[in-house]
Amino acid sequence: MEKQDYVLLDGKKTAADIRAEIALEVERMVETGKKRPHLAAILVGHDGGSETYVNNKVKACEACGFRSTLLRFETNITEAELLDEVRKLNEDKEVDGFIVQLPLPHHISEQKVIEAIDYRKDVDGFHPINVGRLAAGLPCFVSATPKGILELLRRYDVRTRSKHVVILGRSNIVGKPLASLMMQRSYGDATVTVCHSHTVNLAEECRRADILVAAIGQPEFVKADMVREGATVVDVGTTRVPDPSRPRGFRLSGDVMFDEVAPKCSYITPVPGGVGPMTIAMLMQNTLAAARNEYYT
Ligand code: GUN
Repeated sequence: MEKQDYVLLDGKKTAADIRAEIALEVERMVETGKKRPHLAAILVGHDGGSETYVNNKVKACEACGFRSTLLRFETNITEAELLDEVRKLNEDKEVDGFIVQLPLPHHISEQKVIEAIDYRKDVDGFHPINVGRLAAGLPCFVSATPKGILELLRRYDVRTRSKHVVILGRSNIVGKPLASLMMQRSYGDATVTVCHSHTVNLAEECRRADILVAAIGQPEFVKADMVREGATVVDVGTTRVPDPSRPRGFRLSGDVMFDEVAPKCSYITPVPGGVGPMTIAMLMQNTLAAARNEYYT
């Protein structure tokens, strides 16, 4: 078998480019007398992954010239108290957009919290109004991971039109909105297959993909025999796997067995440094759009 050269879809560099573009835009806004975009984030508890994500979101705000506010609460906050914090952010005229970092402790209904967020400030795009408007092809906040995947492909000139996109995973955050975007004429314009835990002949479905997106959170699930020669592979997985040889005691593992899959690919995302940074860059884009009332007034 010929070893094929593959191109790394460098999300880290692309996200840095996007942050720089946003920062320029923000300085233009400020020069013309507009206020800086302001993102707030609610973080409940001390989940390591969530802490890292939220810290990176705050850092990204700095790089973009945004204001940011981080509201931290202990795991024992009640659902009613958290809903009240959401209400305060809804009403705060100084805040353009905000997120509640997921997952939440089990005694709090994530859906209830998401539905309490004013959809006009829902820069995660998780509120049913944004989800519904996305499905209907209407202007709205698009959830950041699917949006980041499309943007990364676009910036590397990986065409999606008329391609067969196979998505592993049907989550509300990634699989479902990505399927919706990929099939829509004004976004992906692709033919889409969504696979999940009850899909028959999963490997065969995957081998039909021109573009394979793995978003199931199972380390190294996608093996070389599931990927067609010349395919593009996008790895959304970021599972912390114990690794005593690392300073922090773990490494991030993607859903793709990179070393054996990459040689078959035209394009592939690394983990880390692929989809993750793009997600945060798209959250920044959404916050800029919120500050400009681009979707809602
Ligand atoms: N948890 C994992 N991904 C996300 C995300 O994109 N937004 C929020 N709020 N929580 C998450």
